[in-house]
Parts: sequence; C-alpha cells; structure tokens
Amino acid sequence: MSSKGHLTELPLASAVGKRPSPRRLLLLALCALVAIVTVLTCNSLLYATTTGAGPRIQRVPLNAEHVLNQCASLRKVPGPPEDFLARAVSDRFEPGTQPTLIKNAKLWTGARNGSEIVYGDLLLDGGLVKAIGYIPRALYAEDDTVFIDAKGAWVTPGLVDLHSHVGLFSAPGMAGTYDVNSRHGPVLPWLRSIDAFDTHDDAFQLAIAGGVTSVQVLPGSGNAIGGQAFMFKLRKTSDRSPTSMIIEPPHTLNGSEPDPSQPLRWRHMKQACGENLRRYGNRMDAIWSFRSAYNEARQIKHAQDAFCAKAEAGLWNALEGQSYPENLQWEALVDVLRGRVKVIANHCYEEVDLDDIVRLTNEFQFPIASFHHASEAWLVPDVLKRTYGGTPAVAIFASNHRYKRESYRGSEFAPRVLVDNGIPVVMKSDHPVLNSRYLMFEAQQAHYYGLPPHLALLSVTAVPANAAGMSHRIGILYEGADADVVLWDSHPLQLGATPKKVWIDGILQVGADEDGIVIGKGKDKEFQEVPIVPNWDAERRAAVEWEGLPPLAPTRQDGRVAFHNVRELWIRRDDEIYEVYGGDNMELADVVVDGGHVTCVGRHCLGGINAKAVLDLHGGSISPAFMTYGSPLGVEEIAGEASTGDGKRFDPFNGEVPSILGDQGAVVRAGDTLQFGTRNALIAHRAGVAYATSSLEKVNLFSGSSSIIGGLSVTFRTGSQHGLEHGAIVKEIAALHITMSRAAPYSSEGWASVSTQVATLRRLLLNGEPTDTETGKWFKQAAKGAIALVVDVGSADIMATLLRLKVDVEQARGSFMKMVFAGAAEAHLIAEEIARAKVGVILDPVRPFPGSWDNRRILAGPPLTNDTALVTLMDAGVTVAVGVRDAWQASNTRFDVAWAALEANGRIDRRQAYALGSTNLETLLGVQDWIGDEADLVAFDGGSAFDLSSKVVAIVSPGRGLVELV
Ligand SMILES: *[C@@H]1O[C@H](CO)[C@@H](O)[C@H](O)[C@H]1NC(C)=O
Ligand SMILES: *[C@@H]1O[C@H](CO)[C@@H](O)[C@H](O)[C@H]1NC(C)=O
Ligand SMILES: *[C@@H]1O[C@H](CO)[C@@H](O)[C@H](O)[C@H]1NC(C)=O
Repeated sequence: MSSKGHLTELPLASAVGKRPSPRRLLLLALCALVAIVTVLTCNSLLYATTTGAGPRIQRVPLNAEHVLNQCASLRKVPGPPEDFLARAVSDRFEPGTQPTLIKNAKLWTGARNGSEIVYGDLLLDGGLVKAIGYIPRALYAEDDTVFIDAKGAWVTPGLVDLHSHVGLFSAPGMAGTYDVNSRHGPVLPWLRSIDAFDTHDDAFQLAIAGGVTSVQVLPGSGNAIGGQAFMFKLRKTSDRSPTSMIIEPPHTLNGSEPDPSQPLRWRHMKQACGENLRRYGNRMDAIWSFRSAYNEARQIKHAQDAFCAKAEAGLWNALEGQSYPENLQWEALVDVLRGRVKVIANHCYEEVDLDDIVRLTNEFQFPIASFHHASEAWLVPDVLKRTYGGTPAVAIFASNHRYKRESYRGSEFAPRVLVDNGIPVVMKSDHPVLNSRYLMFEAQQAHYYGLPPHLALLSVTAVPANAAGMSHRIGILYEGADADVVLWDSHPLQLGATPKKVWIDGILQVGADEDGIVIGKGKDKEFQEVPIVPNWDAERRAAVEWEGLPPLAPTRQDGRVAFHNVRELWIRRDDEIYEVYGGDNMELADVVVDGGHVTCVGRHCLGGINAKAVLDLHGGSISPAFMTYGSPLGVEEIAGEASTGDGKRFDPFNGEVPSILGDQGAVVRAGDTLQFGTRNALIAHRAGVAYATSSLEKVNLFSGSSSIIGGLSVTFRTGSQHGLEHGAIVKEIAALHITMSRAAPYSSEGWASVSTQVATLRRLLLNGEPTDTETGKWFKQAAKGAIALVVDVGSADIMATLLRLKVDVEQARGSFMKMVFAGAAEAHLIAEEIARAKVGVILDPVRPFPGSWDNRRILAGPPLTNDTALVTLMDAGVTVAVGVRDAWQASNTRFDVAWAALEANGRIDRRQAYALGSTNLETLLGVQDWIGDEADLVAFDGGSAFDLSSKVVAIVSPGRGLVELV
C-alpha cells in the first residue's frame, strides 16, 4: 500500500479502494480517442495533476484502465454474490429437467448446526431446492411435476467428500489413468487436478449410489504443494466435459477477467507434509520448500501492492517501463497469501507436521481451511487453534489408522475429542483409499465411537461444504440451495443405510422406479431411528492420556464369571451355530461361565453363586467369536513401515530366491514370523475377532503382490501375548496361498504373465518339484486335498481356467482338491460353476470395488443391483466367507457381516451371518477341527454382534479355560 504521505499529496489518491473517478475515466476515454485518431500512443500524451506542492506531469499508459481494474480486483474477496439465494434457476440447471416433489419426508436439513428436522415435503425445481416443509399448490404444476412419496423416510443433503482422487486414479486402475502425483518437484502450485480429471471413472456412479454428490478432487500428496484442487459434482453433464462438472469454476481456470459485478470464486490448493515427501528429502527439506515458495509468492505480492499503490495514486511516471508484477507459476500462491484460496487441503499427520504448518501460516499469514489425515490433530487442539486466520476443520478417517508410522496414533475417538475442543470434524474417503461410496460409513463409525449424531451427519455434509467455501449451495437443504438430495432406506447413521434415490441438480441419478431394485427390505421401524451407541468415555480418556497408544491387552480371569441381563446366547455345536437362548419374547437371562465353559443359562442360575467377576450385559448377547482372514494381521505392525514387518520376500519369477533356501518356490510360513500384541490384533480382539488366519501374501492396489507364491498361513489368537502361550497358535500351518492375477498398474517389471502363472501352478500340482522341498511337499498336499489351496484371484476368466486345471489335476491324481477363491470380485459371474466344482469363496473385501482390470465386473448391490455377490454365490450353493485386505479392517468384521446381511434384503439370517465370519471361514481354510465346539465366545454389552448399540466386554474361552476381560 502507498504511504500516508502519498495519499494526502494527490487528489487522485481518492481513487484508491474505489473505482476510477468519472473525471479520470473521461480523461482516459479522451486519451484513447486521441490515440486512435492521431495514431499516437497515449504515452506521449501529457496530463497534469495538481498537488499542494504544485503541478506534476504524469504519462498515463494506454492500458491504465486495465491496470487499475487489476489493482482494484486485488481487494476482491471470494464468496457467493449477495443475491445468491434469490436465484431462480441454478447455473447448473439442465434444460428439460422436470420439477420433483418429494412428499412426506423426514428432512434432516443440516441447518441450525445440524439440529433442524423438518417433517414435510421438498420441492426441487430449476436445479434448486425451491421449498421445504409445507408446500403450497401454487408452487408447482401438477401435470409437469414428478411426485415421490418418501413414506416418512429420511432425506438429507447430498454428501460432500472433501478428500477424493476420483477421476485422477480411475477405476479400473491402470497406469494410463494414474494422474495423482507429479514427480517434477516438491512445489507445484501451478498444477490443477481438473487438467487430469477422467470422466470415465467407474467410481462416479458407485459414489453417487452411496449418496455422495460433490467431491473435492485433490492432486496427490507426493508433493509439498501438489497443485490446485477443484470441487466437482459427480453427475455426468450433457456437455460431458470435466469443466462442466466443476462447481463455481474460478476465473483463473481459463484466464478470463473476473466478473466486476460479482465476488470472486474460491480456489483450492493441496498441500502435504511428512513421509510422502521423502522423495525430495526429509521433513526439514519439506518445510524449507514451503518457506521458499511462500517467500517467492510474498515478494510478488509485495511488488503488486507497491505497483498498485503507485498506479492508484496516479504516479504513472514512477511506473514507466514496468508492467504489473505477475507470474503464472506463482499466481496461485499469491492468491493464497491474499486469502482467496481459503481452502487448503493440508495432508499432515503428526504433531510435528501440524506444528510446522501452523508456524508457516503465521510466518506468511495465510489461513488454512482443513487439515487432512491429521492422525494426531486430536492430540494438539491448541496448536490447531493457533493457525493464522482461524482454526481449520480436520478431515479424518474413522478407523483406517496405523497403516503407516504417521497414522500410528490415529484413533477412532479422535472425532469426538476434536469436537469437544471446538474443532470442526470432517469424515472423508481419500478415494480410492476408501471407496467414496461408503463415506456415510465413516460418519456412522464416528458416531458409534462417540460423535453426537447431528455432528456425525454434518461431518459429511455442511462441515466439508463449508471447508470448501461452498456451504451457500451444497451440504445443506434450504430454499435456494442446490437440489442435491438423498432419500435413505433408513436413518443414515444406521449400519448399511442405503440411498433409495439420489438427485444432483434436481436430476435423479440412481433409484429410478423403472429399475425395479429392491432396497432396504427387512429393515424394521427401528432402522428409522438414530442408532443407540455405547458409552466410550473411559476408553476415550485413556486414549488421550496415552497419546493414542492406550494399553489394549485383555486381563485374564479364571474361575467363575457371571453375566447378567443376557438377551441371547449363541453357541457352536458340530461346526454349526445355534441360538440356545433368546428370542423376541424371552426374558433377560443370567449366564454362568466356569473355567471358560458355559455351565448355566436362564433365570435361575445365580442362586448363591460366588463369581470372581460379574458383568451386566444390559440386554446384550454372547455369541461365537469371529475370525479374520486376508490381511497381514500379526505378521506386521505398521503396513507402510518395513521395519515392523517380515521383511523382503523373494519372488521365484525374478530368479531372486537364494540357493541356500534350497527351495525354488520359496514357500515360507507366516507362523515363523508371527508377532503378538500388535495394535491391529488387539483392537480386533476387542471387537470380537478372537482368531486370525494370516499369510505373507500382501496385495497392493498399485503394485500388486510381492510374489505369486504367498506361502503357508497360520491361525492364531489375536489376544495372546506371545507364541508360546497356551492356545496362542491355533494351527501352525493352515492353508497354502497363491495369487493369480494380471499385473497391477505398477507391478514389478518381472511380474509373470497369467499363462506363466497357470503353467507353473499346473507343474507344481503335478509333482513338478521334489517333495523334500517345501514347495514340492506343500503343493503335493494341496493336489491331494490334504491342505486348502487358497488362490487370491479376481478375474472370472482366471477362475474358470483354475476350475479346468482343478479337474485335470484331480483326474491325474484321483484326488479331490480343496480349492478356495479369495478376493473373488468376479466370482458371481460363474457362481454355478464354482458351486459344482465345490470350490469355496472368501469375498475379500465383501463390498467390492472395481479397482483393477481383474476386478472390474463387480455386482454392486443395492441401489444399483438387486443382488450382491454374496447372495448370488450363496444361492448357487457355494460356501462363502468374508475377509479383509488391511489389518486395520479386521476390527470391523462384525459390521461387515451385519451389513452384508442387510444388503441381502432379508435373504441372509443371523445364523448365516455369524457363519460368514466364523465357521464358513474355518471350513474353507481347513482349521475347523482346531477350533470347533471349544471355540471362543464373545460377550457384547448393550446388543448383539450385529448392533451399533453394543461393545465387547469379554471373550469366553472354553479351549483355554478362562475369560478375557477387555
Ligand atoms: C453452532 O455451533 C457453534 C459451535 O458449537 C456455535 O458457536 C454456534 O453458536 C452454533 N449456532 C447455532 C445457530 O446454534
Ligand atoms: C471462462 O471461465 C469463466 C468462469 O467460469 C466463464 O464464465 C467463462 O465463460 C469462461 N470462458 C470461456 C471462453 O470458456
Ligand atoms: C429385483 O427384484 C424384484 C423383486 O424380486 C423384481 O421385481 C425386479 O424385477 C428385480 N429387478 C431386477 C433389475 O432384476
């Protein structure tokens, strides 16, 4: 800015902060006229100003008006126009869209901090919410309006996913569609996610099917400043262009002049900290790269301000030969410093990273809209509050923690701790890290672990919309907002809540009546209520006290343990699961356990009994423990931290196997490298997953598997302290594991072709290797059917090949092979054939995503298809179980099976649901006889294994003669 001296010196200084005065405009116009007529440049035209000190002659440049406009626009701030809510039609309106009247709905609008609920109707017209509540007849034309009877069901705004890479890493994933991180340096503010946005990503439709309507699409986190993000709606437009999918594109997108009559639009920028920047050095290097970049931008900003101070003071002579200071590479960062990129998605995890960035904001004086991932934000609320310009929102996962060192202290209690400290919380997907389709599940979990229901709903609607500077139109329902609306089959915080219909800009995206998809069948009235959730106060306090690493090991209790107020008791007998007590009209019972064995159940168990521990289950249940399969649980602590895992494995297809191993196939045993007491295992244990079967196969979305031969799995107890403890190792060698797949987009160079993989398997199963080697021995066992051969395979075509191979091997050897397909995203396509071959299937994950070419033909389930893969396979008679890919997911097993049952529209009963995560899995992996009727049971307080109202309080272990209290 100019000094005060200048301002008083010059009459024209009054133009500072305002539009040019009429007199000046007149002069400029004259100037231009003279220039045209005389073909002289205005630079030669002299013009006088008077000052207190006497006249001065200023040479006014030809582009003076442009310069002055440019200078005036530096003071413009982004935001909606004042009359925004008075708009009659949305800028996104597609002509021909009919008005829609949703009648008889329970509308959670997102207004009043999420506390507003309106019972009534909702009129969508012109791409907008036109009216809410009681809607007079005069507002719509009867014969030109689509009527939807919500029948009292919940309606919410469309969900806003503040952190997505949809369109940058498209499904199915291919090297040719991977446009997430640039390798061209740590600081790249000039890159823009829009420039790589693939409109053919299969994930759009899936995310919409989950109720997600708007997303912030961010460049990756491989750079300190990765580039500009954009807000998109997921609806494919009639224009089909990425540009037409952007919400309120800023003028800088195409280099046009801002509309002088309107405020600017928000811009968005992605920043990152920590581990992902290792490519460019360490944390110190990273912060210096920020500081030097912001210093560059600050110098440009200062030069612009100085230039404009002179121009606006009319001191043109001083500017002679200079042009307005700008630089296309740095202009976006200059805008950050001007507070016009309010929304900076900051990918930073640890206390050190958050503190670094907060210091940076104060040094360079720019605000941050949201910290993302931010695994330790909940531990340093006061640091966040020191952010320049106000406290940012914090965007996190609910339970996806411990996947790398930075996220090791992430906590399921973080959302509640953050809001208790007055910090706005956003739940996000980081799609495709989590499937954006299940964004609401993140809010459901946050709610389960203590976030109040209105804040849980806000965390995926109005709060992210606000963090993106878009809360004037999305993430909220009020008259004049965008017509992005979800009609749910149950309360959206209920597990498995599924959209029945989704509109974007008033246009129905999924759930057309003529599709005839059954949604939400079998969900009774209770599903329309906010779920009741457990109290976690003690656990949350401990988590904070221990800085995210509270002790998790159970305490062991021998002797007699009594449970009061038990609603249901399910036990295992002869490899089946039975409800031995319970039912709708039964009174709550007592259950007595002696040395880990249930010795009494009923109303009259407790007469004069001395129990060493007494637990009130408050109407809860006791049921068989779950097993988890498919992740590296127990063979590593932190997925991204090699020093906590098994280490390098050798791939025979790369000729890497050391000869000293004496085994060409390098078949190794997970049991040899098992670790006990990993946090993922203990958290799973506390969620009723008492068993795990793990192999050393590790499949990565980007790079595929490290080796085709996954080796031998081990079955163990998740709550044990070490491998020599009684019962810790359930079965030393469970099954033999291999991977059969096409190369992942970034597989190692040496990834063998599918035909090579099959040829190798054929040879190994037909005695290709001597049986005094591990490879020869175990493949022979698999060929004979003495051990299960679990094949991680997604493609139905490869499965079909394997079924033919199985017949060949069995005919050649006169055997019956126990073959299992794991992963199995496309298994539903050949369900009958799989059933006939008596091959089992472990759906892993149970909710599919077309992440790779091999997995692309998924059966998406409601609201897109009637059937799920699970139901299709079960109907065909296949033995099906469920698994997970990542160790942190193991603790959600009970929710996975409950959800799978709900998605089946009442076609899977509770007994079958229990079996999916226990007996079926054991049967397929060949470990049922090692668990059997002595299997551990789990005591749930406040509900059953399938309810959000319950939590685990004890594991009852007849096999070990004790009870574990958690
Ligand atoms: C909304 O919540 C914020 C933060 O808790 C509070 O400051 C504000 O007053 C609330 N507004 C309304 C309308 O309740
Ligand atoms: C450039 O972008 C602005 C702002 O989105 C838009 O109004 C204008 O029509 C665009 N111009 C062209 C030529 O595409
Ligand atoms: C879905 O199932 C319902 C009820 O069984 C049936 O009426 C409808 O035709 C099915 N729709 C499709 C697309 O298969």
